[in-house]
Amino acid sequence: MRSGIEKNDQRIFIFDTTLRDGEQSPGVNLNSEEKLAIAQQLARLGVDIIEAGFPISSMGDFKSVQRIAREVKGPVIAGLARTNERDIRAVFDAVKEAEKPRIHTFIATSEIHMQKKLQKTREEVKEMAVKAVRLAKSLVDDVEFSAEDAFRSEMPFLCEILTAVIEAGATVVNVPDTVGYATPFEFAEFIKKIKQGVPNIDKAILSVHCHNDLGMAVANSLSAVLNGARQVEVAVNGIGERAGNASLEEIVMALYTRRNYLKFDTGINTQEIYRTSRMVSTLTGMMIQPNKAVVGKNAFAHEAGIHQDGVLKERETYEIMNPEMVGISSNKLVLGKHSGRHAFKLQLQELGYNLEGEALDKAFDEFKQLTDRKKEILDEDLIMLMDSFLFGSGEDVYVLDHFQLSSGTNISSTVTVGIKTNGVMAEEAACADGPIEATYKAIEKIINLPVKLDSYSISAVTGGKDAQGEVVVRVSLDDRTFMGRGLSVDIIEASAKAYINALNKIVRTYPELVP
Ligand code: KIV
Ligand code: ZN
Repeated sequence: MRSGIEKNDQRIFIFDTTLRDGEQSPGVNLNSEEKLAIAQQLARLGVDIIEAGFPISSMGDFKSVQRIAREVKGPVIAGLARTNERDIRAVFDAVKEAEKPRIHTFIATSEIHMQKKLQKTREEVKEMAVKAVRLAKSLVDDVEFSAEDAFRSEMPFLCEILTAVIEAGATVVNVPDTVGYATPFEFAEFIKKIKQGVPNIDKAILSVHCHNDLGMAVANSLSAVLNGARQVEVAVNGIGERAGNASLEEIVMALYTRRNYLKFDTGINTQEIYRTSRMVSTLTGMMIQPNKAVVGKNAFAHEAGIHQDGVLKERETYEIMNPEMVGISSNKLVLGKHSGRHAFKLQLQELGYNLEGEALDKAFDEFKQLTDRKKEILDEDLIMLMDSFLFGSGEDVYVLDHFQLSSGTNISSTVTVGIKTNGVMAEEAACADGPIEATYKAIEKIINLPVKLDSYSISAVTGGKDAQGEVVVRVSLDDRTFMGRGLSVDIIEASAKAYINALNKIVRTYPELVP
């Protein structure tokens, strides 16, 4: 077999689709820089395959996949294609410069999808699949075929099409539970039947791609692994279409923590999990629920007195994993006003950020500004600061210069906001029932774009009264949604920054909107 990865009976290949299926989450819209940063972090994490995007879907996606293929070393770089020539050639053009390129082509095989969506017969679908795999195989060695909605497909037909695509050269065959309908016991039977019904299955890697509509994506994936699947398709923080995909961190930590029972390995460096999760959450604007397994704020917090007592006496009384394993540092070194550049640099290194020269100077300046407003700077503050520093564009059209607010009980809020547009200052005031609405009205008077604010959320980065507030907004223009993020110890300032951040992304995409 000439796939970009080599089979070994105990090794589970982690195929990460955060940048493709994950990016299909409603409201997620990553730019090329952000996608590259996530791909580089996925490579550090040790995933085997990065599905970098769907190149035919837009020029932007094509370029991002191409950039990732050129710059990210280590994992296989895959792109998604339907079973037509244009899609397949677009993936090839995008991934051909990767160290290990893969073309991933798919077509639906369930009766409902074939009849209602594709309006094709089984024979036509099989022919399209085989033709697509042959074409892809003429371009690259490593070809993955996915039978979309495989779990609801008729088994004899599914086995027939998988046999045919392996014969045509597919190195990986993927059987998705596209609509998240399976249960673990049924999924085990499903995988066993494929192993029995596809005579050449040993010539390919069997892969699963489970959606989480009934909350069983991780359980179904593990059930498949126990029955012969060797590639699992996952997304960081479980993001993806609708209820999302199987979560990378849950699958990896289940395989790691229960290796005594499951007996499989992955190539993942588990200590990079937390940082990857934070980065994906920050850049996608998809917050992590506090009780989320492995990476949620409460995942390692012991609240009940009896539990705390137990953990203090012997950690393993209530902890099956420890935070250090996923890269949550126990070395809570607190930085502050008096911390110097050296301590700052060392702590950044500890967290995985290696900055030098001018970049370090700039980051240190931002850190110093934060210490003027917040006494103790914790790791979470530094991670947030670094993520905004590294991904906030230095060339924003709109920059918040100042704001002033008057608000109180039984009075409406009045806000004055000053914004520089390409360096030119404008100031406006507005009134509303609340300070955030007033701030947004004043911003809209200066930046007059035909946008709609779809959502607003705020959370505290750390505990404590002086915690920084992180605001995430989603703003739409026509049918496109843009996420904006703002961070500050002052939540009105964080709100203003988040809105302005989203507006900057809009004018970066549509420069003609800037007057
Ligand atoms: O859910 C699905 O079936 C998919 C395929 C394109 C792999 O995302
Ligand atoms: Zn999917």
